[in-house]
Amino acid sequence: MARLDGKTAIITGGGNGIGRASALAFAREGASIAVSDFNVDAAGKVAAEIEKAGGSAIAVQGDVSDETQVGAMVADTVREFGKVDVLFNCAGGGSTKDGPVTELDLDEFWRTIRVDLFGTLLCCRTVIPQMVKSGGGSIINISSLRAVIGTYGADAYTASKGGVLALTRTMAMQWAEHGIRANVMAPGVVLTERVSAFIKEDNPIYQKSLLGPCEPDDVANLALYLASDESRKVTGAVLRIDGGASIY
Ligand SMILES: NC(=O)c1ccc[n+]([C@@H]2O[C@H](COP(=O)([O-])OP(=O)(O)OC[C@H]3O[C@@H](n4cnc5c(N)ncnc54)[C@H](O)[C@@H]3O)[C@@H](O)[C@H]2O)c1
Repeated sequence: MARLDGKTAIITGGGNGIGRASALAFAREGASIAVSDFNVDAAGKVAAEIEKAGGSAIAVQGDVSDETQVGAMVADTVREFGKVDVLFNCAGGGSTKDGPVTELDLDEFWRTIRVDLFGTLLCCRTVIPQMVKSGGGSIINISSLRAVIGTYGADAYTASKGGVLALTRTMAMQWAEHGIRANVMAPGVVLTERVSAFIKEDNPIYQKSLLGPCEPDDVANLALYLASDESRKVTGAVLRIDGGASIY
């Protein structure tokens, strides 16, 4: 039996990077996948790749910061697969418009908060009633090592990811009695296409990654564990995946 047999997962930001790697990994382990992304072409390609390999997937357009689109994303998933067992909130990411509080672009601050923090909240708010109805589920959020240790120069992103971390903890408390687990991953440097385009080897987290930077599959494997029943007693956890950068 595969590790996610019989489960349905929504993966936001599933069109690229960590979300894409996770969609493919979850599908290989037997889950039906709703690949959600505001780039619906990218989501469609991942869903097609899963179907071609014999899995089951749909692509859903979903800007996680838009309540109507999130509602449609969840409704489409339930219509197609009947339930939602796993929600992986992966959509998001920082940008070069970020910086120290005195310099960062204020519009960028609100964009980051809207996508990374509010988007996570909105998807949880919409999926949790479905999970309650079906007796439980696993919520996987993605923060950043920046929210765990002190780093320079991305204060909007850091604040937003700090919010994701705190939100995950409080949700884990509130929904445990319904069998819903909520955990958050805190990656260091992950060499997705987006990050590879701007990361420099003198980046302090990169330099301190004793085991080297992560590949998207490394994070997907941790998400897979959190999605599966192997982690059935794990909730409210902050799981660092940083090649050792935070202990250096
Ligand atoms: N790559 C890293 O080094 C790293 C480190 C720590 C945390 N993270 C987090 O991991 C997540 C994924 O990062 P990645 O590097 O794989 O990024 P990525 O850019 O490769 O993929 C992100 C996906 O999210 C989608 N997306 C963006 N905004 C969206 C929105 N409003 N609604 C729906 N979809 C949206 C994009 O279209 C894209 O397909 C992000 O939340 C990021 O903050 C990444």
